[in-house]
Amino acid sequence: MQTVTEQSVPKVPTLPDAQTITHVKHWTERLFSFRVTRPRSLRFRSGEFVMIGLMGDNGKPLLRAYSIASPSWADELEFYSIKVPDGPLTSKLQNIEEGDEIILRPKPVGTLVLDALLPGKRLWMLATGTGIAPFASLMRDPETYDQYDEVIMMHTCRDAAELEYGKQLVESLPKDPLIGEFVGDKLRYYPTTTREETAHMGRITDNLKSGKVFKDLGLKDGMSPDTDRAMVCGSLGFNMDVKTILEDFGLREGANSEPAEYVVEKAFVG
Ligand code: A2P
Repeated sequence: MQTVTEQSVPKVPTLPDAQTITHVKHWTERLFSFRVTRPRSLRFRSGEFVMIGLMGDNGKPLLRAYSIASPSWADELEFYSIKVPDGPLTSKLQNIEEGDEIILRPKPVGTLVLDALLPGKRLWMLATGTGIAPFASLMRDPETYDQYDEVIMMHTCRDAAELEYGKQLVESLPKDPLIGEFVGDKLRYYPTTTREETAHMGRITDNLKSGKVFKDLGLKDGMSPDTDRAMVCGSLGFNMDVKTILEDFGLREGANSEPAEYVVEKAFVG
């Protein structure tokens, strides 16, 4: 007969769908990233999001959509978040520490997935602020480099400090022991700032419209629906403005059910 010792009694989670924080890093006053344990049953496609949150003061879960920033093969789940001082969730979430628990509903969904795009040669990832999160996942997925000859990560933030999370990730990838060989020299990075003087400046929308980004990267001016695919993630205004530009290039919006040349998702705020 087996005796049940104290150690063998499973720990009962205090929250429904609880996961434990394993790492927190504050990048700026406004931005932080964190990792949590991964539910054993969770399968997701790089680029998808899940609902995560904390228990509210009223005893009800306070949940928001967060893109998973880690790749689908990783043991832990990573998230990248803004801190909104009066935001119902992020004002609390920004205080989490290693060992704390958060709620994570293990039902991944989303349109920023490779399956929602028709085959192409060049993939543009266009993000502002925390909109880089789904691309932090896709940039670490070997499938991305299997499907495209060239991957261009355009990321725009107010200042250089806000680019740091993406910059450190992108710079680590070619020498990453797990996926470095897939990345090779396929990944190109075009970071810009809008409120601090840096090497490359300006909004993504302006750099696409003026043709500056194509010139800087030594590419033919503009995008073509024959070769170029795009994924967009940022604020509502950014997404709308980029959509217009992509449509002007002749690209059409795709979805899981009907793949086309570009896909869009709103970055989490609040
Ligand atoms: P800007 O500084 O000119 O507003 P935020 O931190 O406010 O979310 O903004 C992130 C980045 O997105 C900033 O560099 C900001 O530029 C830029 N941005 C905001 N709205 C748009 C838009 N509609 N089109 C292009 N870029 C935008």
